[in-house]
Amino acid sequence: MDYKLRIEGGTKLKGKIVAQGAKNAALPIMAASLLLKGQKLSLERVPYLKDVNTMIDLLRKLGVQIDFKDHHIALDVPEELCWETPANLVRKMRASSLVLGPLIARCGRAILPLPGGCSIGSRPIDLHLKGLARMGATIELVHGAVHAHANGLRGCRIYLDFPSVGATENLLMAAVFAQGETVIENAAREPEIGNLIQTLISMGARIEERSTGEILVEGVDELQGCQSEIIPDRIEASTYLLAGVITRGEVTVDEINTGHVDALLAKLEESGVPLTIEKNSVTVHPVRELKAVSLKTMPFPGFPTDLQPQIMSTLALANGTSIIQESVFESRFRHISELNKMGASIEVQGHTAIVKGVRELIGADVQATDLRAGASLILAGLAAFDETNIFNLGHVWRGYEDLHIKLTKLGGRVEILPVEEIESKVNGINMKGVH
Ligand code: EPZ
Repeated sequence: MDYKLRIEGGTKLKGKIVAQGAKNAALPIMAASLLLKGQKLSLERVPYLKDVNTMIDLLRKLGVQIDFKDHHIALDVPEELCWETPANLVRKMRASSLVLGPLIARCGRAILPLPGGCSIGSRPIDLHLKGLARMGATIELVHGAVHAHANGLRGCRIYLDFPSVGATENLLMAAVFAQGETVIENAAREPEIGNLIQTLISMGARIEERSTGEILVEGVDELQGCQSEIIPDRIEASTYLLAGVITRGEVTVDEINTGHVDALLAKLEESGVPLTIEKNSVTVHPVRELKAVSLKTMPFPGFPTDLQPQIMSTLALANGTSIIQESVFESRFRHISELNKMGASIEVQGHTAIVKGVRELIGADVQATDLRAGASLILAGLAAFDETNIFNLGHVWRGYEDLHIKLTKLGGRVEILPVEEIESKVNGINMKGVH
């Protein structure tokens, strides 16, 4: 059964919500629990999301006992672990590949079906595998699965051709027990990696982040259990701020780290949005005329690719033409055809979108093709006149906790409805999701 979100648009959102724990910090940190042996990792502020549940299922399959309630997760890791990951879970969530580094470090073995691509790109893991091989792991591809093994990993210098978030996280975790020092050069610097590093250090790992973008890891013999807290989700928080902007309302997002949303705030200021920025909260105030701005997505601290679809919806109603370049993923523009069905005027030229501002958007039946594309359609639906139905809502539930509750709290007129098979056919909606 899939669900759709029905939105009666045109209401100015008003009010305050609290940011959830960051999905993209919780997933690698949960995977890091595999480095423990007969110990417990306790995490606070873990969001209730489909992807967190998938990671729980995967870790349980590997032997970890898990308790999850009131946003608190207790991961009890046994002496012996299974090191073969089930294909159905890896295919369901690419972030499953984050168990690769910890399993090789902890068990000397790992079998991981190749995660495959998704609607935003081919998503290879070649940088992960190249780094692990440099550390001494033997990597073979057998029937579309990575078979890796190592009799202990050795520290070395690893240069990442691209500051890949996942590769940085996997190699970081693989290095904690390696012999000697590992230096990861051109490492990703997203705040979620800082949260992983702080948690690993609390577990007894010896890690140093250099301002040059290098991460140094001195191998240790074992780690201890600890307590850690997941940082606020900067992408979820930014999505709600943009919901305030696109509806010309006034929205405050509380309990965030404002240093993690600098790129968005700079763009909002450039486009004329009045902001109030406190230590742990941001408020967007009603903007009379949103100015068109241009941007290019980049690794942190650049403008985040995970916010590109959402700001594109917002700029669809700006005054003037905005140029948005997507430099991180090769096909993260699938929301554009859906936005154009709602009256947006967006033209694609390779990795660049030309967004000509229009005066209004009109409600339509549209489908979410991935998590952030779905979020961008929700923003458009909130601003559009008339009714919008967003199908394949399951994509959005991967990353947004209590979505309709938070939108309703801000005055959004939204409703979650089950989608009958016949309705999806009538609307030509591909119910199997888009891959
Ligand atoms: C993480 O994905 C996030 N997911 C993504 O968030 C985010 O979009 C992405 O980082 C970039 O910030 C999680 O943290 C769970 P990458 P990841 O490795 O690690 C290429 C969301 O919406 N690449 O930094 O998979 C890759 O194809 C999700 O929350 C290689 O070529 O991203 C892509 O073009 C979507 N070879 C680019 O690098 C590799 O071995 C960035 O990928 C690895 C990556």
